[in-house]
Amino acid sequence: MTRFIALISGKGGTGKTTTSINLAHALTKLGKKTIVLDANFATPNLASHLGITSPSATLNEFLKKKKSLQETIHLHHSGLNFVPASISYQDFKKAQPDKITEIFEHLKGFADFVLVDCPAGLGYELVQILKNTDEALIIANPHLSSLVDALKSMELAQENSNPLPGFILNMTNKGKHELTPEEAEQTLNIPLLANIPLDKKIKKALHKHAPSHYLYPKSKSSKQYLKLAEYLINEKIK
Ligand SMILES: Nc1ncnc2c1ncn2[C@@H]1O[C@H](COP(=O)(O)OP(=O)(O)OP(=O)(O)O)[C@@H](O)[C@H]1O
Ligand SMILES: [Mg+2]
Repeated sequence: MTRFIALISGKGGTGKTTTSINLAHALTKLGKKTIVLDANFATPNLASHLGITSPSATLNEFLKKKKSLQETIHLHHSGLNFVPASISYQDFKKAQPDKITEIFEHLKGFADFVLVDCPAGLGYELVQILKNTDEALIIANPHLSSLVDALKSMELAQENSNPLPGFILNMTNKGKHELTPEEAEQTLNIPLLANIPLDKKIKKALHKHAPSHYLYPKSKSSKQYLKLAEYLINEKIK
């Protein structure tokens, strides 16, 4: 059975793409076939995080029936499987988010996990994604504005029948000028699944266009990605 997991945050820039890439790499290392799907038509970043500026096939082309599923799934040298979206503005204008169901139907049975890197905000595009995913992971930063936005995205996920196993607190900085993990947990009222520090290794890995879990498996953040991957594998699906 394929588990489709949406990574959402409400607020932009919280670390959805970074978490998708590293969590997918950790799941892959644990022997689970995992694909990251860039479902952000407006500002897709997945391929560029991985150093690819003009992929040979994109989600947009798949949805227009110009490319096959096999052509659309790319393999990064780190072992990560991913489906990029087009970075072209013209392709964005022609994108039909309601057609996205098509790729979910094709990916069913193709992998153990499909992590869906979602757009920020609460727009139409995100609703179309959440209609197709089985559960949602919340990515938040330790600041009130981020948590307030996360609360709204949690409601949207639940409205679209996505259970919320918990949240990931990302870019924590040893409690300096920020909310504590306990305060974040009390605010969101769902379990804290991973506390990912603000980690220079993540910036370094981005510059090298590879998952930091691949380049720096012993870093503090990589240990958290591994813990999260283990949690998802062992989690009882409601
Ligand atoms: N734990 C971390 N430590 C250090 N830097 C991080 C961490 N998580 C993410 N970043 C950096 O923060 C920036 C934003 O991350 P990312 O692109 O993953 O956010 P996003 O939520 O996907 O953004 P968007 O809403 O635009 O899609 C990137 O430069 C990324 O390298
Ligand atoms: Mg992103």
